Amino acid sequence: MARIAIIGTGYVGLTTGACFAHLGHDVICADVDVEKVDLLSAGGIPIVEDRLEQLVREGLDEGRLKFVVGAASAAADCEVAFLCVPTPQNPDGSADLSYIQDASRELAPVLPFEAILVNKSTVPVGSTRVVERVLERPDVSVVSNPEFLREGSAVKDFLHPDRIVIGSEDQSAAIKVLSLYLGISAPTVVTDPATAETIKYAANAFLATKLSFVNAIAAVCEGVGADVNDVILGLGYDSRIGSEFLRPGPGWGGSCFPKDTKALVRIAAQVGYDFRLLDGVIAVNQEQFVRVVDKVRRSVGGDLSGRTVAVWGLTFKAGTDDLRDSPALEIIGRLLEQGALVQAFDPTVTSADGLPSGTSVALSTTDACAGADVLVVLTEWDEFRWQDPVALAEDMNGRAVVDARNILDRARWQRHGFDYQGIGR
Ligand SMILES: NC(=O)c1ccc[n+]([C@@H]2O[C@H](COP(=O)([O-])OP(=O)(O)OC[C@H]3O[C@@H](n4cnc5c(N)ncnc54)[C@H](O)[C@@H]3O)[C@@H](O)[C@H]2O)c1
Repeated sequence: MARIAIIGTGYVGLTTGACFAHLGHDVICADVDVEKVDLLSAGGIPIVEDRLEQLVREGLDEGRLKFVVGAASAAADCEVAFLCVPTPQNPDGSADLSYIQDASRELAPVLPFEAILVNKSTVPVGSTRVVERVLERPDVSVVSNPEFLREGSAVKDFLHPDRIVIGSEDQSAAIKVLSLYLGISAPTVVTDPATAETIKYAANAFLATKLSFVNAIAAVCEGVGADVNDVILGLGYDSRIGSEFLRPGPGWGGSCFPKDTKALVRIAAQVGYDFRLLDGVIAVNQEQFVRVVDKVRRSVGGDLSGRTVAVWGLTFKAGTDDLRDSPALEIIGRLLEQGALVQAFDPTVTSADGLPSGTSVALSTTDACAGADVLVVLTEWDEFRWQDPVALAEDMNGRAVVDARNILDRARWQRHGFDYQGIGR
């Protein structure tokens, strides 16, 4: 069992730390956010993530998990340190490496002799070298180990990954990092750092492409009178295609796809490749936000000004409280710009912090619908599926619903007098 330091206790770092402690390692997690460290040390967690609180408590109770302020205090006695800090987007679309560089600078004087520094953050090709240059520690091997977990099922994904990717020029460092995952059964790809970094961007770009593709097919379905759900069934049975991740929706978002697709376009441009396919994928996604807003506008007769729109769902997907780059926020912003009043409910959101200014936060699905002219479903929370259209119809001013996740029972809502619009059906 190894002594591990985790630098950054966000969605990725906290999951990584708690899961490594669960596997039996001694883990110290560091963050710069003092309040977060205090909360975590007391066994609370600042995010919504299935099973994570249980693993954090287990690690604390069994003495294998600790939380401290500052990277240096976590790493002074570690064998392996993981960088799990943010890599947000620069204004030009490239990835901002300043958090990675700052954390590496902090670690350089304290990392024990021949420790390994692993980059788990999503970083452009060449970043392993950037870290090596900042460290100036020839005895420390820098390894790339991109993370593929999905918010909402982060613990499950970490403990049962589809694959583990390790990029290193130093074979013994690669083997050491791989050995930390002992007990996890998954195919492994051990390669060089540039390839590992490219795999992560390629995976996210491909997934975003699937979503934009299915949204484009949904638009065609609407035009020709086909049902996208059945089209997906017919597509998915083809084993070369598969049905995973072919889900039409309000557009993709979240903390990764938007920044990672733009970063890959940028990386490609820097090496002389014009990644027009990915540009198209991003453009289709922007159009999808507009398409959903158009549906809402049409449902109230063509003019949104002064109309009340009930919104169900704010997070970028169900099972998380993460609002970063959520399609719901893009769509609400556009609704507000066109003069609508927005009453939004999400099971994990209780304040208007981070929402477009003017959004009012409702405390229940019914509360959001009070006096509304139209209801829009923007996140696929399971509890939305089972709401009773009869009771809602009494509270609403209008009888229109735009189901941008295709999760409601269309026939039932129509039977109770609702003008139902889904995506691609
Ligand atoms: N969120 C995901 O689903 C996901 C999945 C795979 C990969 N990634 C990648 O992982 C990285 C982290 O993403 P995240 O969503 O966990 O970010 P996050 O914003 O949730 O967490 C980052 C944490 O790092 C802390 N931090 C910043 N600088 C620090 C420093 N010098 N020392 C200690 N702590 C510091 C922040 O306070 C924050 O708590 C990003 O590169 C992201 O692209 C994210």
